[in-house]
Amino acid sequence: MVSSEASLHYIRQNDMEASKKKKKKTLKVIDNQTGQELTLELHNNTIRAVDLAKLGVTVYDPGFLNTASCISRITYIDGDKGILRYRGYPIEELAEKSTFMEVSFLLLYGELPTSRELEHFTHRVLRHTFLKQSLVDIIKATPKESHPMGLLVSMLAAEGTLYPDANPAISGGDVYNSPRVREKQILRLLGTMPTLAAFVYRHKMGRPFNYPAYGGSRSYTENFMYMLDSMEDPSYRPNATLVKALDTLFVLHADHELNCSTAAVRHLTSSDVDVFTAFSGAAGALYGPLHGGANEAVLRMLERIGSVEKVPAFIEAVKNRKARLMGFGHRVYKNYDPRARIVRKLAYQVFEICGKDPLIEIATTLEEHALKDNYFIERKLYPNVDFYSGLIYKAMGFPTDFFTILFAIGRTPGWLAHWLEYLDDPDKKIARPKQNYLGSDQRSYIPLTQRNSSVKYSTEYVSPAEKRRVNGFAVAKM
Ligand SMILES: CC(C)(COP(=O)(O)OP(=O)(O)OC[C@H]1O[C@@H](n2cnc3c(N)ncnc32)[C@H](O)[C@@H]1OP(=O)(O)O)[C@@H](O)C(=O)NCCC(=O)NCCS
Repeated sequence: MVSSEASLHYIRQNDMEASKKKKKKTLKVIDNQTGQELTLELHNNTIRAVDLAKLGVTVYDPGFLNTASCISRITYIDGDKGILRYRGYPIEELAEKSTFMEVSFLLLYGELPTSRELEHFTHRVLRHTFLKQSLVDIIKATPKESHPMGLLVSMLAAEGTLYPDANPAISGGDVYNSPRVREKQILRLLGTMPTLAAFVYRHKMGRPFNYPAYGGSRSYTENFMYMLDSMEDPSYRPNATLVKALDTLFVLHADHELNCSTAAVRHLTSSDVDVFTAFSGAAGALYGPLHGGANEAVLRMLERIGSVEKVPAFIEAVKNRKARLMGFGHRVYKNYDPRARIVRKLAYQVFEICGKDPLIEIATTLEEHALKDNYFIERKLYPNVDFYSGLIYKAMGFPTDFFTILFAIGRTPGWLAHWLEYLDDPDKKIARPKQNYLGSDQRSYIPLTQRNSSVKYSTEYVSPAEKRRVNGFAVAKM
């Protein structure tokens, strides 16, 4: 441990001598306690944390506020300027001109596909949309009111058990060295994700499942909507504007660099676990209301507010820390989330077909109030992608608890792109953060009869139902 007086001076210097020769940027660190100096190399404004270990120093960074855990070439975000680019392409252009399949290819392979590549890739993905019967049976066996994200977490883990030949736990840690095995997992995950979601939806509605339309001219998103909505009519075609809107939402959600769920994919993959289990963990992270679950939380918040007149009181409650303005604020964006602008526009296109959701008035009034209020201005809190996406989903008639699974479909290519990038990362190592231990020093075991309770464990938390049960008794078999 470094004592409280100890401090480190970080001197950012462009080492002139070195820069003349090699143009190297360095950072000098001085331990004021010992006088020891360390010159660290800076690459892209980043030092290697392990270099600090030479001074016996550890970096404490809960929530990873300033820690880069990988080198990535997939997605660029400038949170202050509100910039988001996939593989260099601005999100605004991709949302307007591209499609989800094209963006998936871009994220996975680094370049936009040629028309032949796109056709081949889409065809291959759509050839992997069928669910194995055991997965269908699991969905059927779950209660209709199960949360779709809870089901997705379980279904992805279950799906992983179906391919032992592609599971490092069974077939060895090098199984993913084969490009064919990798490709197959990509197709399986991209292909089955919408089918899982659609089957969960139909199960919830108490309707028979629509199996994916095989081949033909349906796009990925059209096929998904077909599975959701066809009343056993193979010729059913969903509305083209709604297909485009949902496809654009998938594009907007496709990647967002090291968010909580994508970081989870890398974290789990670092143990060599199979990609389905890594995805199950990622889906679990996405489920949380501070991450992908925020779109659902926004809707519930708008419903609780109930009317435009109640917006000022709600804003006051947020400022007094009695409530949180869901769909606002972001770890990275300290400006308007560029995706939120696009989603807001998209919402009105959907309203023209499905009707305007009255909650939009509450949402826009909340936004107006928040954007001119000092609490939000000082903290740079702006609407994020989830602020309006839930309203589109609601206007399209999706149940509130279904929103995050739509996010998960969109995020699939991003998770996969990070999985691929991680597999080839020369710096990959099992993720194992250090801790800063402040617990007890060594002490001796106390016999049971000599202990005094001093911990926060209560013996009071017993429900009336449990009391009723424990007051009964079993008649032992003679
Ligand atoms: C996204 C989020 C988790 C980022 O968290 P973070 O980077 O750790 O930021 P912090 O929680 O430290 O927030 C910084 C300050 O802004 C406040 N703040 C952040 N988001 C806020 C929100 N949505 N409503 C009210 N206050 C908020 C915090 O209370 C904190 O204030 P303080 O410094 O006075 O204590 C956070 O903004 C949030 O909870 N937003 C709502 C959930 C959401 O929409 N998530 C989807 C993200 S795409």
